[in-house]
Amino acid sequence: MIPIAKPLIGEEEIDNVVKVLKSGMIAQGPRVAEFEEKFAEYVGVDHAVAASSGTTALHLAILAAGIGKGDEVITTPFSFVATGNCILYAGACPVFVDIDPLTYNINPSKIEEAVTDKTRALLPVHLYGQPAQMDEINRVARDNDLVVIEDAAQAHGALYNNEKTGSLGDMGCFSFYPTKNMTTSEGGIITTDNEEIADNARILRAHGEKERYSHVVLGYNFRMTDIAAAIGLSQLKKLDGFNQRRQENAEYLTEHIKEIPGIQHPHVLAGAEHVFHQYTIRVGGGKREEFMKFLNENGVGTGIHYPITLYQQKLYRDLNFDADCPESEKAANEVLSLPVHPNLSVEDVEKIVNVISTAANELF
Ligand SMILES: Cc1ncc(COP(=O)(O)O)c(C=O)c1O
Repeated sequence: MIPIAKPLIGEEEIDNVVKVLKSGMIAQGPRVAEFEEKFAEYVGVDHAVAASSGTTALHLAILAAGIGKGDEVITTPFSFVATGNCILYAGACPVFVDIDPLTYNINPSKIEEAVTDKTRALLPVHLYGQPAQMDEINRVARDNDLVVIEDAAQAHGALYNNEKTGSLGDMGCFSFYPTKNMTTSEGGIITTDNEEIADNARILRAHGEKERYSHVVLGYNFRMTDIAAAIGLSQLKKLDGFNQRRQENAEYLTEHIKEIPGIQHPHVLAGAEHVFHQYTIRVGGGKREEFMKFLNENGVGTGIHYPITLYQQKLYRDLNFDADCPESEKAANEVLSLPVHPNLSVEDVEKIVNVISTAANELF
């Protein structure tokens, strides 16, 4: 079976981890500081604050921006559940705006009508590795005095008008979960040019401790370890190469499946460089489940990102959430992710194309 994801861990990562283990400093220490510095430089921002996961990075970012009870944050319902949950953790209220059916990212033309006097922030997601339409998102934020927090968990190294994700809004949040474009095992990071926000996030990350034994706010233990940062430092050096291989795999897949009826290949926005965290097609006509079964039975792993919108999850229904997002619901019924990761061989991508062609012949 060709897996849908497979992290590429090399000798350098292993050596770096062993060095940390032998150093005696295995919690947050010098490797985390070095990783923060290098990641900030890579993204092109002044500050980076590492965290224990992408989820805790998002949680910290929202708190660091001063968002809390009674505030609304506009986001997409077509994402991993952490996107909405981090707003709930802060006691704020997610407001879900529908997606653009071509890119699967929040539809910028629908954001302004969702703004109320309680709205404090916009939280776009760069889904599958494709940047959201940040020009319009930042325009709405400017006009309505809102903070922009990018959920860049899936978009390390992606570009929008030649600028990196994580540098496009007030803050960016990345995940380093093993399926992501680069990994630290578990891990996350916040990127920002705003020194005050970075300081707030650092304090909140370590139990609200401003100086030793002086706890000024209710904080958390959301620290990254030096073991994780040691992996991240090697992975960061390889990130552009990993992304290039993802893009080459995606290009091959698109070239060979674009004429197959019943399947819509990914659309890349003008001005965007997509880093293909996922290569996600649409299978119409109510055939997605059958199509997926055929692929799985013939050795091609798949994923559904995501089979249900956030507001339709039990958690959100129990909290009385609802939203009018027909494009998100339609996408949830039709999307199917194929393997695109840098660990694929030429034979793997050829096999994926062959199995898809056969599946389409049999089912459509
Ligand atoms: C869009 C999105 N946001 C947030 C997260 C949360 O990151 P993590 O799994 O590192 O907590 C993820 C990762 O799965 C994600 O895909």
